[in-house]
Amino acid sequence: METSLVSQFLKVYTFYLLMVVQLVFCIVTYDKKAIIINGQRRILLSGSIHYPRSTPEMWEDLINKAKDANLDVIETYVFWNVHEPSPGNYNFDGRYDLVRFIKTVQKAGLYAHLRIGPYVCAEWNFGGFPVWLKYVPGISFRTDNEPFKAAMQKFTNKIVEMMKSENLFESQGGPIILSQIENEYQPEREALGAAGEAYVQWAAQMAVGLNTGVPWVMCKEDDAPDPIINTCNGFYCDEFSPNKPYKPTMWTEAWTGWFAEFGGTIPMRPVQDLAFAVARFIQKGGSFVNYYMFHGGTNFGRTAGGPFITTSYDYDAPIDEYGLIREPKYSHLKEFHRVIKLCESALLSSDPTVVSLGNYQQAHVFSSGKGNCAAFLSNYDSNTAARVVFNNKHFNLPPWSISILPDCSHVAFNTAKVGARTSQVRMTPTVSQLHSWGAYSEDVFSLVDSSTFEAVGLLEQINITRDNSDYLWYITSVDISPSESFLRGGQKPTLNVYSSGHAVHVFVNGKLSGNDAYMHIIGRTASRKHFLYFLLWNSQFSGSSYGTRKDTKFTFTGPVDLQAGTNRIELLSIAVGLPNIGLHYEEWNTGILGPVVLQGLNQGHKDLSSLKWTYRVGLKGETMNLISQHGASSIEWIGGAVATQGQQPLKWYKAYFDAPEGNDPVALDMRSMGKGQVWINGQSIGRYWTASANGKCDDFHYAGTYRQTKCQLGCGQPTQKWYHVPRSWLKPTQNLLVLFEEIGGDVSRILLVKRTTS
Ligand code: GAL
Repeated sequence: METSLVSQFLKVYTFYLLMVVQLVFCIVTYDKKAIIINGQRRILLSGSIHYPRSTPEMWEDLINKAKDANLDVIETYVFWNVHEPSPGNYNFDGRYDLVRFIKTVQKAGLYAHLRIGPYVCAEWNFGGFPVWLKYVPGISFRTDNEPFKAAMQKFTNKIVEMMKSENLFESQGGPIILSQIENEYQPEREALGAAGEAYVQWAAQMAVGLNTGVPWVMCKEDDAPDPIINTCNGFYCDEFSPNKPYKPTMWTEAWTGWFAEFGGTIPMRPVQDLAFAVARFIQKGGSFVNYYMFHGGTNFGRTAGGPFITTSYDYDAPIDEYGLIREPKYSHLKEFHRVIKLCESALLSSDPTVVSLGNYQQAHVFSSGKGNCAAFLSNYDSNTAARVVFNNKHFNLPPWSISILPDCSHVAFNTAKVGARTSQVRMTPTVSQLHSWGAYSEDVFSLVDSSTFEAVGLLEQINITRDNSDYLWYITSVDISPSESFLRGGQKPTLNVYSSGHAVHVFVNGKLSGNDAYMHIIGRTASRKHFLYFLLWNSQFSGSSYGTRKDTKFTFTGPVDLQAGTNRIELLSIAVGLPNIGLHYEEWNTGILGPVVLQGLNQGHKDLSSLKWTYRVGLKGETMNLISQHGASSIEWIGGAVATQGQQPLKWYKAYFDAPEGNDPVALDMRSMGKGQVWINGQSIGRYWTASANGKCDDFHYAGTYRQTKCQLGCGQPTQKWYHVPRSWLKPTQNLLVLFEEIGGDVSRILLVKRTTS
């Protein structure tokens, strides 16, 4: 009896001692129910906003909008490749000012979750790794490899020290309550076996050893070693439980929508289903939910991962790419969060009692017996509404929905009953438009200059470009004998180019191969429904071919116009964003690795692969820095009406415009163009491509299990026609727009538009 009294006393004493320690030293800990901040368990609602995907001028507004939606935490990844563009040279300026971003979160009174990675996936170029990392001798990514671990530790430590020196961890009175190491490592660990296992152990110890005073998480890694918390990512996470009974149930990526890829549709996720998924997670005892993304934003420059991730990273998030509220998603979640908060003390002080209310209906009741009681009444039936009895009262539950009763008696919220109206988006042409056009040809003939080099055989693209440009020219010449029968009316020879990715434009003697046919098809694709159809035509009749995101390899096959004598074969190979996911993606090839074969000659076929090739990294216009005011004024542009006439490939264009009046977000409508990149006042808006979306746009019902192929928009339309031009990049007058068009487009029809919602 006495011993049990003593042990009782010790338990209570230890509990209160821990509480005091937590309060005094502001540490963040956890138990099986929740993250504990300053001694208090918390239900934490969080939203992802990635700082480089908007501008510092937008951050405060975005974060305040997240706060108004009753979020507690802002989550961001840390993007290594933008911070360390070359080994040891760091950049934390402008959009990359991580400290400013975290301080903006702090100023809003919110917490931060810093997902350092440094592997982040995130549809970001090379998954966040700097490309130079691939060239560290002996390196192998994300495994038990010394050079990799050394580099990862150095960067992680750099970020942690930077946060510490600004007192940004909660343990120092700052906003950061959580950090993440690695990202969704489980599939790699399973594939790598012992090396993967050793790496996970190492990563955990390394992170914990940095003594941040806040917990670390590993998402989608069931074997996350203690004390690291393993967390769930997905469209639903109610089946998830942590790997130890003393860890809280956390959902680090509740996908609010999905990303888009050029040539694909625009995925949407109905908010009724999203709220239903989150309510299901909370009723099972989940206490941390992060919406990925709460604001998706824009992949400016060449930051998009890939290949083929669009410049827009809108994600169908509650705050749209431009920073405007998306309804009804935003308000429905805001109300949902308000109601969840009303349940907080009941949710945190007890485990749910589950009562069956029907075949597909349940009640989850949270009651500590101390007066608080919250109930979640669920109907999993995706077709039929249900009338259930709970606490002697009748409740109607729409299909695929949960009603929340913060007092176990009155319904305060139902996930399927949406009050807010759908916002109508308008993209209105502004009064000010582009003027004073100039054009400049990226002349294929004069390509061989001092920045070219020669090599025998075909070389891997990224080994040559180091990703300093999307573009790499492969040029060779082939002698055609006057006795070739095709020169006397026979069938034209065919060129086959096998590429490892991601796109190629084929020129023969300076002319885009099959250019006439190509322009014809470009003009008609918008009205054609299927992108694949476009690709098929493209590869048969035109001078361009593309891989896909799933399979970057492709073959260009097309008839070519050759003449007697020496002919130049000029292949412009294009990387459209480096891979961000997949086992050892650092080893994947890009570019033309061959064979390159001419067929239909008198001798049959001729393999060009092991000839001497001339290589040129990037475009002439890039070398001349045409995107800047200085570079643009260093050359003679073709002006006047001729500048905008003729839709030729490989053209640089420039124009000027005044900033549109007011504060509405601004975009470029690029529907009349083909494929390329665009810059404003020297800042890259990103890659553009008006490839049409192929997919099914027919199932919009909110009920039933969601996946990213459901609820798609934009079939038959260009995947992305609008490109965000941040307001803060504009001067009142004389803004310089420069673009590079690869295949041909009509610049006279590019429009500046203002985005409004009502
Ligand atoms: C997750 C990954 C995120 C992001 C997401 C898809 O698996 O952790 O970084 O890529 O998928 O948007």
